[in-house]
Amino acid sequence: MSSAHRVHVWDGRRRHRLRVADGANLRRALLGRGLSPYTAITRHLNCGGRGLCATCGVRFLGHAPPPVHWHDRLAARFGYPRLSCQIRVKRDLGVRLLPRKRIWGRRRP
Ligand code: FES
Repeated sequence: MSSAHRVHVWDGRRRHRLRVADGANLRRALLGRGLSPYTAITRHLNCGGRGLCATCGVRFLGHAPPPVHWHDRLAARFGYPRLSCQIRVKRDLGVRLLPRKRIWGRRRP
């Protein structure tokens, strides 16, 4: 029997409530609901979820899941946005999409 988790996403204007299957990829779950972590440019220029480009970064509200990917471990260690493509949803989460990113512009909510 599969389980699902609640993911609350703040996009800068409003909060969205998602139900996400246990173990689902956070980036895919966000994109599937039209909640892109990307900017207008990186929406088209990204690594496709391979953990290489760091353009899918999000912040967590409250307790963040432990990183498992080397690049996401570095992000967590140095306080950078976490790589949504490297996060498996294993419990309820609060996520904040970033309106401004250092690389390649702004995100359109
Ligand atoms: S999509 Fe490139 S690091 Fe996540």
